[in-house]
Amino acid sequence: MFWKLLKLLLVLLMVASFAVLLKGAVGRASTGISQPIAFNHLAHTKTAELECDVCHRYVKEQEFAGCPEREICAACHESPLTESAAEATLLEYLKSGKSIPWRRLYDIPDHVYYSHRRHVTVAKLDCSECHGPIGQSTTPPEAPLKTISMALCTSCHEKQNVSVDCNGCHR
Ligand code: HEC
Ligand code: HEC
Ligand code: HEC
Ligand code: HEC
Ligand code: HEC
Repeated sequence: MFWKLLKLLLVLLMVASFAVLLKGAVGRASTGISQPIAFNHLAHTKTAELECDVCHRYVKEQEFAGCPEREICAACHESPLTESAAEATLLEYLKSGKSIPWRRLYDIPDHVYYSHRRHVTVAKLDCSECHGPIGQSTTPPEAPLKTISMALCTSCHEKQNVSVDCNGCHR
């Protein structure tokens, strides 16, 4: 009986450690987000002098910011403006009529309530407070340039005398 139990315990341990290994491997493989087009933020924010909300057009009015639909790119990219390979890829997407499968860098859990309007329009914060210098990036970052953690939220709230009541953010 004792040996049977011991054996069972060992098997369970092996299964558990295998699961941990597997999860680690999958986790590692899925870090490093790659985008369908080597989008250049700086070419748009500096050279073309665009405000962030030309592309992230709900950022001032809604909870979410929004990733640009193809129509937004198509407004300026009807024919080549540059010799960049990235732009050639964009023009292929636009010609094919397919939507561009942008991938999300940020994804906080569903139980956290966050509103862009409240922070961008009401509190007048700069995007870089939470997103780092993504507006100056020349290739898409593979990971957030600044990590959004609970401590990032609460430390600013404490500094600015905003509520740190759990229920304010966890609804
Ligand atoms: C308001 C006009 C405008 C909009 C909207 C716009 N672009 Fe551009 N884009 C430009 C201009 C102007 C340039 C050329 C900048 C330069 O000369 O470096 C450019 C350059 C580019 C390039 C080449 C730059 C490089 O370094 O590779 C790519 C790729 C590109 N845009 C993709 C996009 C995508 C994707 C969208 C939609 C999410 C978009 N653009 C929306 C005006 C626009
Ligand atoms: C011409 C369109 C355009 C403009 C202008 C623009 N962006 Fe973007 N943004 C994109 C595209 C396309 C992506 C997805 C590809 C990437 O990550 O580079 C993106 C991704 C992002 C992301 C990551 C979102 C996520 O979770 O995946 C952030 C944050 C961001 N932009 C912030 C900004 C800020 C801040 C500005 C202004 C300083 C700005 N953007 C201006 C087109 C634009
Ligand atoms: C106080 C922190 C904070 C500020 C300031 C902020 N963001 Fe965000 N942003 C977030 C958080 C948190 C998320 C993730 C939301 C989620 O996963 O549901 C996010 C997600 C995004 C996304 C991708 C998902 C979406 O909402 O569509 C984009 C694009 C974005 N932000 C752009 C911007 C731009 C542009 C500005 C400035 C005009 C800005 N953000 C200012 C915290 C911030
Ligand atoms: C750099 C400072 C800063 C950061 C970072 C920040 N906030 Fe805030 N937040 C504010 C300010 C300032 C207000 C008050 C705005 C107003 O006057 O309504 C606020 C308000 C709020 C409110 C409304 C609070 C209430 O009592 O009604 C919520 C919810 C909230 N923030 C959630 C978040 C979450 C979630 C994050 C992290 C993803 C975050 N905040 C990050 C500065 C910040
Ligand atoms: C200002 C906003 C804010 C406040 C206030 C806040 N949290 Fe959070 N909390 C967050 C954010 C944002 C995350 C997600 C962080 C991440 O994705 O790494 C989080 C994550 C968590 C998690 C981890 C859950 C998970 O899915 O991993 C727990 C547990 C938690 N919070 C508990 C609390 C408790 C308890 C309080 C009150 C003492 C509190 N939080 C107050 C913003 C807040």
